[in-house]
Order: sequence, then structure tokens, then C-alpha cells
Amino acid sequence: MNDSFRALRFRRLIRSVYTKRFSKYGRQPHGVFWSDLVRQQSRFKIIHNQISALVPSGVVKVADIGCGYGSLADYIRETPSCSRFVYTGYDINPTLIATCREHSNLPSKSFSVSDCPLELVDFSVMSGTYNMSVTKDLVHWERYVFRCLAKCWGQSRLGMIFNMLVADKSHISEGMLYHCEVEKLRRRCVQQFGATRIIREATLPRDVTLVITR
Ligand SMILES: C[S@@+](CC[C@H](N)C(=O)[O-])C[C@H]1O[C@@H](n2cnc3c(N)ncnc32)[C@H](O)[C@@H]1O
Repeated sequence: MNDSFRALRFRRLIRSVYTKRFSKYGRQPHGVFWSDLVRQQSRFKIIHNQISALVPSGVVKVADIGCGYGSLADYIRETPSCSRFVYTGYDINPTLIATCREHSNLPSKSFSVSDCPLELVDFSVMSGTYNMSVTKDLVHWERYVFRCLAKCWGQSRLGMIFNMLVADKSHISEGMLYHCEVEKLRRRCVQQFGATRIIREATLPRDVTLVITR
């Protein structure tokens, strides 16, 4: 099976996993596999802080790739400098995009079904987007993740910020969660994209955020 065909298959499977989960739990962190709101928002805070440090003033265009039910948009709206953030949300799941359009304060055109920004932005950000694997084959999954990242990179003027689960050795868990060996992942990001920093947060010991800048 070639990579394009496999990517289509993965997308179909991912859609189905998230649709089932969302149908069961609805618009809450559980509905997109987060354990709770605090942990979901801790990740948003790291992403928001990184963008604020890299672009301290003026307008900043952010594409939220894998936006789920639109919780990062809600989070940004509650921050003091929210008016300078021009937010767009993308997800491969049409059910989730329909929910965002229905419930968000933003215009419905702010949300689209896609795995990458449909126009040039300053940053692509992804929180939890590539955690849930739909294959046990680590090589295939990592190749798929990098294919997705490359599409986002091509539409990101300043950089990409995303989080990953980490472990001593890369693996896909029994529960199908992808864990990366962070230094290996960082090297691959440097090679394929550019300067890559790793952000760790004491309250999220099994998580890292990667910040790649041009
Ligand atoms: C763990 S949820 C996180 C949702 C949201 N970022 C949050 O933190 O609440 C992952 C989301 O990414 C979406 N997703 C998975 N793979 C994707 C991809 N390659 N491109 C865009 N969205 C994707 C899923 O449909 C799901 O909504």
C-alpha cells in the first residue's frame, strides 16, 4: 500500500474513532479523549505562552489543526490579548467541525474540514492531534504524522507548535496512544523543518511541546 492510500485509510479510521467518542461524551474534554479540563487547558496555556513570547504584539494568525469541538478558540477568547489572535480551526472530522460552527462565537467560516491550513497563517498549532494512532505499526504512523506536519509547515509563515506524548522508547500503547522518543523526534523535526525547541511542564510529565520556528 502506498503512503497516500494509507493516509486516506488512517483518516477514515481516525474519523470513525472520534465520531464514536464524541457521540458518547459530547462537547467536553472526555469527548475528544482528554482526561479533564485542567489538563486540556494546561496544554493550551503552553501553546498560548509560546506564541505570545514569539510574537509579543500585533496581529497573529493561528490555525488550530485538530480543533476538536473548538475548545482552544474558547480558551483564547478568555485571554487578555485575545483580540490580536486571528483564529481558524481545522479538523478532519466533519461532525466536530459542524459542532464548532454551531456553538462558537466565531463566524462559521472560521472552521473547515482539513488536515492543514487552507491559507497561509503565522502558526499552525496542534494539541493532542496525533496522539491517537489507528495502527500498531510505528513506522507507518510516524511517516503519516510527518506527512501531516509537512502539509501544515507549508502553510505556516513563522512556525508550528504541537504536543506529543513521550516515553523512553517510541511505541504505540495497548490503548493505541502514540508515544515518541522525544530526542529522536526533535532531530527529525530539525532535519525536515528547522530549529526545534522542547518545552516540558512539571504538571504534565508524559507530555512535551515542540516549537519549530523558521
Ligand atoms: C485529542 S483531540 C484534541 C482536540 C483539541 N485539539 C483539544 O485539545 O480539545 C484530536 C483531534 O484531532 C483531530 N485530528 C486527528 N488527526 C488529524 C489530522 N491529521 N488533521 C486534522 N485533525 C486531526 C481529531 O479529529 C480530533 O478532533
